[in-house]
Amino acid sequence: MEMKRLLVSFVLLWLATVAAAAPFAILKSLGRGHRMKSLYEFEDGSGFVADLEVIQHTDTYGPDVGALRIIARYNADEQMHVHITDSSSSRWEVPRDLLPRPSALETSLQAQSSPQRQLQLSYTAEPFGFAVTRIATGETLFNSTPPAHPSEEAAFNSMVFKEQYLEISTQLPRNNSLFGIGESTRPDGLRLTRGRTYTLWATDMAAYTVDVDLYGAYPFYMDVREGGATHGVLLLNSNGMDIYVGQDLLTYRVIGGVLDFYFFAGPTPLAVIDQYTKLVGRPAPMPYWSLGFHQCRWGYDNIDDLKDVVESYKKANIPLDTIWNDIDYMEACKDFTLDPIRYDEKKVRNFVKELHANGQQYVLILDPGISVAYKDYITLERGLKENIFLKNEFGNNYLAQVWPGPVYFPDFLHPKADSWWTTEVRDFFNKVPFDGLWIDMNEASNFCSGNQCSFTPESLTVFANKSDSSNNECVLQCVEGASRFDDPPYKIDHVGKYSSIGDKTIAMTVKHWNGVLEYDAHNLYGLSESIVTQKALTTVTQKRPFVLSRSTFVGSGAHTAHWTGDNKATWEDLKYSVASIINSGMFGVPMVGADICGFAGNTTEELCSRWMQMGAFYPFSRNHNAIGTIPQEPYIWESVAESSRKALGLRYRLLPHLYTLMFEAARSGAPIARALFFSFPEDHNTLAIDHQFLLGSSVMVSPVVAPGHTTVDAYFPKGTWYNLFDFTKITSTGEKHTLAAPADTINVHVHEGQILPMQESRLTSAEVKSTPFTLIVAFGESSYATASGKLFVDNGVDQEMEVRDGSSTFVQYFAERSSYAGSLVGRVISGDYALAQGLVLQNIKLLGVSHSPNFVTVNNNRISSPKHLNYDKKPSCLEISGLNVTVGRDFEINWHADGLRLASQ
Ligand SMILES: *[C@@H]1O[C@H](CO)[C@@H](O)[C@H](O)[C@H]1NC(C)=O
Ligand SMILES: *[C@@H]1O[C@H](CO)[C@@H](O)[C@H](O)[C@H]1NC(C)=O
Ligand SMILES: *[C@@H]1O[C@H](CO)[C@@H](O)[C@H](O)[C@H]1NC(C)=O
Ligand SMILES: *[C@@H]1O[C@H](CO)[C@@H](O)[C@H](O)[C@H]1NC(C)=O
Repeated sequence: MEMKRLLVSFVLLWLATVAAAAPFAILKSLGRGHRMKSLYEFEDGSGFVADLEVIQHTDTYGPDVGALRIIARYNADEQMHVHITDSSSSRWEVPRDLLPRPSALETSLQAQSSPQRQLQLSYTAEPFGFAVTRIATGETLFNSTPPAHPSEEAAFNSMVFKEQYLEISTQLPRNNSLFGIGESTRPDGLRLTRGRTYTLWATDMAAYTVDVDLYGAYPFYMDVREGGATHGVLLLNSNGMDIYVGQDLLTYRVIGGVLDFYFFAGPTPLAVIDQYTKLVGRPAPMPYWSLGFHQCRWGYDNIDDLKDVVESYKKANIPLDTIWNDIDYMEACKDFTLDPIRYDEKKVRNFVKELHANGQQYVLILDPGISVAYKDYITLERGLKENIFLKNEFGNNYLAQVWPGPVYFPDFLHPKADSWWTTEVRDFFNKVPFDGLWIDMNEASNFCSGNQCSFTPESLTVFANKSDSSNNECVLQCVEGASRFDDPPYKIDHVGKYSSIGDKTIAMTVKHWNGVLEYDAHNLYGLSESIVTQKALTTVTQKRPFVLSRSTFVGSGAHTAHWTGDNKATWEDLKYSVASIINSGMFGVPMVGADICGFAGNTTEELCSRWMQMGAFYPFSRNHNAIGTIPQEPYIWESVAESSRKALGLRYRLLPHLYTLMFEAARSGAPIARALFFSFPEDHNTLAIDHQFLLGSSVMVSPVVAPGHTTVDAYFPKGTWYNLFDFTKITSTGEKHTLAAPADTINVHVHEGQILPMQESRLTSAEVKSTPFTLIVAFGESSYATASGKLFVDNGVDQEMEVRDGSSTFVQYFAERSSYAGSLVGRVISGDYALAQGLVLQNIKLLGVSHSPNFVTVNNNRISSPKHLNYDKKPSCLEISGLNVTVGRDFEINWHADGLRLASQ
């Protein structure tokens, strides 16, 4: 939920507009950069270490760090690492226990001089600058050396390295496309906008506030050059920063830490994400059930509300896997408690038991703030005993205020936080056997600002009653700090400079374990809580954990899913959600969704219907809204129920495909929901497609994103596409097509070349799991065509998600066809799980088969009964049914239209 900043957000929008319009005017006397004093090249040819000194000291933004050391090295054939820091004393860096990685010096390339090496590094000695070049094309990808002929657009400074201000720029070509850098809501679509500053500072700012820094921080971008060659750049730094994306330069302005760059050679978008997630952590596999549909709201007042909702879904015949509780379940908003009246423990236990018996799940919210307002609160007592709370600059537990009133924040960097949090999770799990945890408000959100706060017993009466949206006024007495951390010399463009970086969050001078300053670690709070929560869940449940976090950072995907935060029930937010979920996938957090039908504000029937249709294809599909808004469960309106049944029906049939995509994500980082250019990078038009997306490489979702429409203009990259509802065909040379989209319909197509595993729709994913499989084989139109696909299945809850004997099944499918004949084979890499479960492939739909076959064999046995064969000329579809093929065994199916002709070929 949000910190109701509705009123100020209009002011903010205005301020942001004004700020965006003002050019960078403050770039005065930042010196003349650095000169190289000494240079040592590694003997293995993998890079160099050099010492740099500042050429001319300046005072702007504080004193320079006089002496720097740069280590530049190939980490791998496709990855280059450039690390620049103070050579005489250590500076803050993202801790290795949060984000494990080799240090610049530890890295050593195996091969002396690898012929596979894709990038090349060069430098200038004075002023110092470095450049990264793609060897294959000679193209410069990053170049921090000021251009010989600077444009008038913005000053291009040589590198600046001060105590609290780092600046470095790269030259950019004007006609490349940049993606990434988050988290923010982007009305302009996916592509980064030239001339705009992107600010990174984890903030509880509602996601409907566009073009400002939101909950997460990702200093990572992808650069698609002309022709489609793509590379990635990560600045691994957790401090606040502005990234200015200009016409012909990109400038980082960072208020601490070090310059720690990783360059990923790609050259495809998927390869970039593979290389990036290899470094920062592969996405965590999520339980199979989490791909089912989720219902949540803030304002389910009591356990009977939840029961009603689950019942109503069933009555309306709409799939539902998981029911959620927001803070309503807690007693006085305290973590790990149940309201004794509204959420009676026994009733809740029975309810969860029933859910589990029906193959459904229960997920609960937790906020990081631990209430200090009540006696005998065991979670607080144990936290105090372990001394794991954040400390203010005077060494006392740091007091803040969130939903339960006054709170202490756990320090998730503290070595004992782990065991303390696990104990709390275990104790509560023993009361309520929940299936996953939702960690909210972890930017961290604070209703007060200040480094030293206190409260009186009177101020507490405000919190005696159940939470509602009005109790987020600060009632603590706080002193705001004025140190160089509270008020750093360079002010990032935090929420359009409306607020200072310590506003409504943990004060900048607060200390984490080992003296780490909140100023440095702020953007890591959500990541550190995700890590500890994922571990606790794993320990307690002994199953694959499901964690959903609002605040995220580079590497969060290895621990958590994400939702895009507090959007609003508007057509704009429906539309913008596409870019938001695609971006999360690019950041390495592929399990992502937006609140379906909108969180804040009242939704409408038409909006909710279209949103259920689109949201049915978010990787993480959850309907959620705020307290005080009208109910928006899909069964509330018959039209929404109808479109939900239709869209979720397809989602549930696609579960084997979605689960296989999750498997691929865990192996290679490949996003589940992708931009069109991921599959068609050579098609320039795809770079500007903002309101369609792909699930995997070739299932394309083309939603209606505006009111009053019964058609949608959708872009179709080159090739043949089949509608997954009725198998009608579109053949495109790369253009827009106008598709019928009546109220109950969303357009979902599969591209030629794909074999899609599907199952039958049911009301829960658990029921889908044992239904017969269908393979959709999509052939193109040429006289010879091929298709391929994959299927991964396991029990959906084991901690590992791997191809291994005994507990999973992985099958690869290949198909080819000529004019009159064709074949489809399944090759089983590991088959045990499917065999043990008796999973069966019953149907095959061959799309793009232009002649009715008269001879079909399954594993060399001719199918003689015509009832198993159905040829439909209109979509040129051959359907083979009643196959009885075991999913865990190799098989081969052949067909031909004329046996003699084939034999004589
Ligand atoms: C893109 O920029 C490059 C170099 O600036 C130039 O050679 C090329 O012609 C440009 N292409 C287009 C389509 O503008
Ligand atoms: C709590 O709310 C009830 C009803 O709204 C009110 O009568 C009562 O005084 C409130 N208690 C406190 C301590 O504010
Ligand atoms: C939403 O609808 C309810 C009930 O009609 C109304 O009380 C409330 O003011 C509405 N909220 C907004 C933001 O329009
Ligand atoms: C599959 O098994 C059923 C029942 O045993 C049988 O009727 C059907 O003909 C079989 N299908 C094929 C293709 O052999």
